[in-house]
Amino acid sequence: MDVELSPALAPGVCPPQRIDLEGLVIRRWQPEDLMARFEAIATSYDHLHPWMDWLTEPITLEQQRVFGEAAARGWPTTGGGFNYGIFDTDGTLLGSIGMSDCLGPPAVEIGYWCHVHHTGRGVITRSAAALTRIALALPGIDRVEIHCDAANLRSAAVAQRLGYHLDRIAPREKRTPAESGRGMFWVKKQAGSRPRIA
Ligand SMILES: CC(C)(COP(=O)(O)OP(=O)(O)OC[C@H]1O[C@@H](n2cnc3c(N)ncnc32)[C@H](O)[C@@H]1OP(=O)(O)O)[C@@H](O)C(=O)NCCC(=O)NCCS
Repeated sequence: MDVELSPALAPGVCPPQRIDLEGLVIRRWQPEDLMARFEAIATSYDHLHPWMDWLTEPITLEQQRVFGEAAARGWPTTGGGFNYGIFDTDGTLLGSIGMSDCLGPPAVEIGYWCHVHHTGRGVITRSAAALTRIALALPGIDRVEIHCDAANLRSAAVAQRLGYHLDRIAPREKRTPAESGRGMFWVKKQAGSRPRIA
């Protein structure tokens, strides 16, 4: 049975809607991103489908429209998910990253995917570095986690590159075709934070 966890972020506490990095713009999804997101996911289907539990079947435009509406509604006053598109400075969609308030205090989780045509150049590592930094600066947060299947070596490499610590490898429901059923739980703590005593 799933246990409902209380949010880690107090009402009104949220990450910024836009993050500018050199050559990258990470910004909250806007309604006009619908077609770009749909095309990116459709083009990347074979790359994403093995790992993303929301992509067991090819997506439809309608599903993406519903997702976009939820993203537009859920910011900034409530917890839950803060989902961003990652763009080149010319507006090309490169991938996506999100911060999810689903772990309970004092942690949030970061997740991501990259457009198949834009992998291998640090887009996700740089975006995850920025969002990790931002998360750890939010009031009430002193831990950020990245969860991936043990077989998802590209995802694990992002966490490792950023200095996340592999907290544990544990059985986890196998939700996608490529998953092994063993989850890796990567953790990054606020510098100077003390381990919690149970
Ligand atoms: C997981 C995933 C997002 C990783 O994508 P990625 O392209 O490997 O990650 P990045 O964009 O950070 O690129 C990293 C590469 O760029 C290189 N790089 C170049 N410039 C860089 C920079 N400034 N900073 C960091 N890395 C840089 C890295 O060395 C690395 O090279 P490598 O491919 O030779 O190892 C991608 O494989 C994906 O979309 N997978 C499917 C969805 C998925 O599994 N999501 C996660 C679910 S838990």
